[in-house]
Amino acid sequence: MKNLLCVFLFSGAWAARATVLWSSIKGKYNSNSEVTVPKGEEWILDENMDVGTLTIKGGFSWHIAKRNIELRAFYVLVDREGSFNLGSENDPMELDATIFIKTPSNWDPRKSEGWDNFPYHPSIGSRFFAGVGGSSVEIYGRTLSRTWTLLSEDHSKSDSILKLKHDADEMNWRVGDKIAIATTNRGSSSEHTITEINNNRVTVDPPLPRNYMGGVKQVYGVAVEKAAEVINLSRNVKITGDTDTFHSMKQGWHTGAFWEDETLDTTHIIKFAELDHCGQNDVLGRYCFHFHRMGHCPNCIYEGNAIYNSVQAGFTIHGSHFTKLHRNVLWNPKSVGIYTEDGNEMNNTISENAIICEDIMKCGWSRGNEWQSQNGLKEGGIYFQGMTNDLIGNRVAGMEHGFWSPGSGNGRGFASGKTCNTHQPFGRFEDNVWHDNQRFGIYLDHQYSRDLERDEEAHVVKTAHGMESCNAFTRPDGKDNGFVSVIKNDFNYHNMFVGGYSIGDIEFDGLLSVNNLNNGYWKRSKNFAEPGRYHVKNSFFLADPNDGIGSATTLFPGGSFTFKMKDTKYAGSGKLEVPQHCGIYFHNPHNKFGSTCAVQYLFENVDFTELRGDQIFHFGPSDGNPMSPTFIASDNSIDGHKQVISGRLDGFLKVPNCSGPVKKYGNGIVCEGQNIRRLTIFSPSMGDEIKISGPGYDVSPNWDHPVGGTNAGHIWYDHSHGSSGHVDHKYTKGYGMHVVLGETYRISDLQWKDDIFFQLSDPELADALGNADEYVKLELEMDGFVESCRLSVRESRDWHNADGVGKEAELSECSLAFRTLGYLATGTHKTTTTTKAPTTPPPTGDCSKCGGAEWDVRCEHGGVGCSACGVKYCRFCGGSPPYDIACPTQAPTTTSSSTATTTSSSSGPSSTATTKSTTSTTTQTTTTIKTTTTTKEPEYDCNQACGGNTFYDERCWTSSDPHGGLGCNACNKPKCRICGGSPYIACP
Ligand SMILES: *[C@@H]1O[C@H](CO)[C@@H](O)[C@H](O)[C@H]1NC(C)=O
Ligand SMILES: *[C@@H]1O[C@H](CO)[C@@H](O)[C@H](O)[C@H]1NC(C)=O
Repeated sequence: MKNLLCVFLFSGAWAARATVLWSSIKGKYNSNSEVTVPKGEEWILDENMDVGTLTIKGGFSWHIAKRNIELRAFYVLVDREGSFNLGSENDPMELDATIFIKTPSNWDPRKSEGWDNFPYHPSIGSRFFAGVGGSSVEIYGRTLSRTWTLLSEDHSKSDSILKLKHDADEMNWRVGDKIAIATTNRGSSSEHTITEINNNRVTVDPPLPRNYMGGVKQVYGVAVEKAAEVINLSRNVKITGDTDTFHSMKQGWHTGAFWEDETLDTTHIIKFAELDHCGQNDVLGRYCFHFHRMGHCPNCIYEGNAIYNSVQAGFTIHGSHFTKLHRNVLWNPKSVGIYTEDGNEMNNTISENAIICEDIMKCGWSRGNEWQSQNGLKEGGIYFQGMTNDLIGNRVAGMEHGFWSPGSGNGRGFASGKTCNTHQPFGRFEDNVWHDNQRFGIYLDHQYSRDLERDEEAHVVKTAHGMESCNAFTRPDGKDNGFVSVIKNDFNYHNMFVGGYSIGDIEFDGLLSVNNLNNGYWKRSKNFAEPGRYHVKNSFFLADPNDGIGSATTLFPGGSFTFKMKDTKYAGSGKLEVPQHCGIYFHNPHNKFGSTCAVQYLFENVDFTELRGDQIFHFGPSDGNPMSPTFIASDNSIDGHKQVISGRLDGFLKVPNCSGPVKKYGNGIVCEGQNIRRLTIFSPSMGDEIKISGPGYDVSPNWDHPVGGTNAGHIWYDHSHGSSGHVDHKYTKGYGMHVVLGETYRISDLQWKDDIFFQLSDPELADALGNADEYVKLELEMDGFVESCRLSVRESRDWHNADGVGKEAELSECSLAFRTLGYLATGTHKTTTTTKAPTTPPPTGDCSKCGGAEWDVRCEHGGVGCSACGVKYCRFCGGSPPYDIACPTQAPTTTSSSTATTTSSSSGPSSTATTKSTTSTTTQTTTTIKTTTTTKEPEYDCNQACGGNTFYDERCWTSSDPHGGLGCNACNKPKCRICGGSPYIACP
């Protein structure tokens, strides 16, 4: 089969290879010879071979009917177009076979200056078995139908007969095999040899050193399989080497497929081999198994292998796509089992691998296994930089983390500056099991999944705005750019934590979290970009009282959003604690809790009834703001109550239908109505404190920590903020508070610094509760001036998210009212001298660099002369046609105060938002303006330049434009006109 294929592909080259038996030529070589298999020859390994180096340019096939052959060399290199075969898919090697990578004397791969003293290859280094791009390596050991199973019942210390979930004979396991059993008590795992096999029972030596869990247990009616993995570490085909250097200096041999020429197809398949003591510590790119920059490589497959002791990574997928790691078992990978290295690894499949550390304290990077420390900490059974890969049915036990994705930076190594690891959507992420890991089971760290636009190498496509699809908002409409990833049926037990830090647009569906020290751990999140999604659904947070480890407690996030949980059950001892670590007071200079953590929890069919203990909620875990959260049930999830808010906000006891505090609900106030919401103001600091008065705040202030007067409406500026990254936010900080819907609140002690933005609750919460509208009335007060406005949950959320607002966010009625106050209070509206100099003037801008242009808020939606020198509100005016429109200064009564009170369709932006682009676009845009008046041909493609909803319109910038320039200058192209949708004209 293979031969036929190759005859075809290499058009005769292969067929022409002359067969040479090693036994017939071996006399020519000694153990230091540099041996090359020439292009035209096919060598058959029919006897032991011991050479210096072996470079294969032709063919090299292992005689599969010969037992116990050993190939020894300092390295084996399969060069481009060379091929290496040890067994084949249809005829796997059934007999013992060993590739032994020898150690040169005085070898140390970290000291490249010494390299000339021992055999090495300039790009692959020393002591390796490797194929370069365009080569074909195929190793097939005796097939195992399973490489690991589970204990099918609990076992006690000293047991020597193990009961397995699967039949050992059927799995192809044998007497004499080495197996390992994963810890189920957050301690050590153990190694054994099989001495007898009897269907599902295997006798092992030595007997078990401790208890192990096995089988399925019912935990509060839920079937939970907390069962130790039993992995088969023996294989008949081995790649190995001296272990001395591995033990003395963490230096072993390494293997992999290494790219050289992308035009060549590569085959690199290793199945059912045993690799031990591999990887080279602190040497970049030297891992036990490695797909190195293979590009699209569907024939890069590692399956069923056993790795026994490795440093750095067991398996590394680096700059490669469509590779497969399936059913491998790893024992003691220090500090990473499986690694996607740079961030552009995409479409790889990692399935049913089992990874075990000998002891929970031994395999972490930070536990004496540092490597390439300059590149940061890397640890965990599975460690991902590139996220868009399928991860299915894997199991990790006893490692530092089960799965860790740090989610930071713009790619690493060769992908540096080319991707955004925090925002890569996940591939299929299903049915994985993480247990007895020292810290996290699943650890998503910082992951905000977004709709990335990527090229064939998985690099993010760059636009004029850089890696634009990494951003939180889409341009030009400011929609949420989230792209929902789903973590399905993730099973965590006996870990310290489950979850991550900042996680957005990731849905946990079917999470089973049992007897972890914290069954949930999560600090920040956001509303989903798609409707109908839940942060957690179909999930269980359980603490089996018969298991000595862990609790049912989940520490869940805070922030300016609604956390949705559905069809989920809590049982055992523990609570739901919110908002974990959000708004920590000592992160604020005024030492008061951050107020923008005012998350709203919405429960739909959440069952807390089997929680043991006297509290089901706790406000303020891990120094989170204990006044921030509110819990809302759309059904009977909170014993039929509708809403619970913090008991520290004692003024809300006066709200009709609220009472308490009730211990069971974390000493919260319990309400039979459902009308208390968060109100968040994203703004610059207007001083440490602003004041809200109205229903809920009519009590005397409690100045004690942690309340700090908030019960009486003293709201503190929150200097802390979320961290969703790549955002282009105008503000991420502000003030958060609670209000009763339909009521009127006065917010005072405001100061003009710049525009401010309001969020009342979340549209998804209103939707879930069936409320067409939710609103409050506000009276904003500044320096004795008062402006009233209505704030609705239905106002535009374009350019808004839980972490703040973007520069382009629209000014709502209340934002405009605030701007009016700015004019009034700072005296800017007076045409004579100002009474008071504001720190930053209210919104006008500086057009002095625009050659006679003037600031004109009427440019909001474009207009003749607008966007002079690329600044939207700078306008050429008061001149000869087409710039004969009157300048704002020529009609002083229409500027200033009247501007401040105009409706949203014509109000100006903030000065900071519009002056930013001045310097970069001045010359370019000005010249473009001049040329366009003489050119009829479209000089540019508006759809290409600006995306959709624009068209090239010759009438822009002419006095004959019937639309007065409305929508012209889209994306700073003078003749690109925004169209479609109010207030613009229809697209042609
Ligand atoms: C492990 O797999 C090897 C490779 O086929 C097999 O020979 C051995 O019997 C198996 N041992 C165990 C313990 O599974
Ligand atoms: C990944 O797979 C998708 C779907 O087949 C494809 O569109 C995309 O180009 C692939 N990306 C890479 C980098 O292989």
